[in-house]
Amino acid sequence: MKVLVIGSGGREHALAWKLAQSKRVSQLFVAPGNGGTPNRVNIEGTDFAALREFVAANGIDLTVVGPEVPLAAGVVDDFAAHGLKIWGPSQAAARLEGSKAFAKEFMRRRGIPTGGFATFTDFDAARDYLLAQTEPVVIKASGLAAGKGVILPDTAAQAEAALRSIMLNREFGAAGDEVLIEERLTGPEVSVFAFCDGRTAQLMPTAQDHKRAFDRDEGPNTGGMGAYAPAPICPPDLLAEIDETVIQPTLAGLAAEGSPYVGVLYAGMMLTPAGPRVLEFNCRFGDPETQVLLPLLNSDLLDIIERSVEGRLAGLEIEWADAAAATVVLASGGYPGSYAKGKTITGLNEAAALDGVTVFHAGTTLADDGRLLTAGGRVLNVTGIGPSLQMALSRAYTAIERIHFEQMHFRTDIGWRALD
Ligand code: AMP
Ligand code: GLY
Repeated sequence: MKVLVIGSGGREHALAWKLAQSKRVSQLFVAPGNGGTPNRVNIEGTDFAALREFVAANGIDLTVVGPEVPLAAGVVDDFAAHGLKIWGPSQAAARLEGSKAFAKEFMRRRGIPTGGFATFTDFDAARDYLLAQTEPVVIKASGLAAGKGVILPDTAAQAEAALRSIMLNREFGAAGDEVLIEERLTGPEVSVFAFCDGRTAQLMPTAQDHKRAFDRDEGPNTGGMGAYAPAPICPPDLLAEIDETVIQPTLAGLAAEGSPYVGVLYAGMMLTPAGPRVLEFNCRFGDPETQVLLPLLNSDLLDIIERSVEGRLAGLEIEWADAAAATVVLASGGYPGSYAKGKTITGLNEAAALDGVTVFHAGTTLADDGRLLTAGGRVLNVTGIGPSLQMALSRAYTAIERIHFEQMHFRTDIGWRALD
């Protein structure tokens, strides 16, 4: 089979890497890809017509969508309307991520555990509501804002300033046309992932991301500086509870409402003193969580994807390694603020040659002279796998010692919550 992966980050490199291990994949393309992915195709994920043309011209049998933006824009509906096989949720199902207001209202009407909230399109109404609150709140732009549309204000003045900047100054553009004011929950977080075929969900190991830029969770929020799986904070009985109270009702609810969910469902959970609560849904694999989940997957990813697209996940035995994986993001100095690009990267082959180490590319590009250059904020994801999380981390960090680019920055404490 010929497969096209849409996207350009570490998640998509990991998807391509895992799909390439399938005996049934004869050729693999990545659009637009990065310096580490095979067969780059210079088309953006939102250019549906160009993607379809490429698929037709090259006899692609299956397209796999990595990021949320093309999903929320309806790439799956567009391909399906043209009779092309594609893996991911429809635009209606992807509203779980594309509209936080939709997701919260859906959870409320389906009785899925989440914190309290109110939604607003009018600034004055939002401010009045805010002024009446006595407990801490969280303010969110409803639409897609590349992970930046969530503000946790410390004071009422900060909360009002956040409302102002989202609703009046349109800091996140149309993503802030609707705003949520949420109850602020407390507790550790865990990410829960499931392969879904519209009716059946098959859970993956849990993972934990590290969103802050610096050690001990200090500094600004990022797209994610590292991850590990499985997360010991979520033992099997708790995962079973989340499956029963969140994943299954979400699938059943979407199917009942006419938009069955196909693809990867990602529930960002907070384990509060009152029990697990959904913070948010994502309609795709996490980045960098994919870079720890797929190295643990023993089964053929192509089989899973085909059965997911065809509604045949029930009864499939999906096998996971009885091991742990950790990934450390090597970022450009300055990220998530402004940073330089075009720095030469060295030492990758030495790093990747180590036992239990896989290096996924994110923001890299191959220069004409064959040098590998930095081309983004998150540059590389160094994944270690081992019988224990300690071993996985030690392999990742040993590999990092071999890698160099100017102003390389990474967290030295990935996994600390699981080790303390
Ligand atoms: P999100 O993009 O919605 O996952 O939010 C990003 C981060 O903000 C989450 O990982 C949490 O750490 C935090 N967060 C989001 N919503 C809430 C909430 N209602 N209460 C407390 N923290 C939250
Ligand atoms: N790592 C967080 C996300 O993929 O949304």
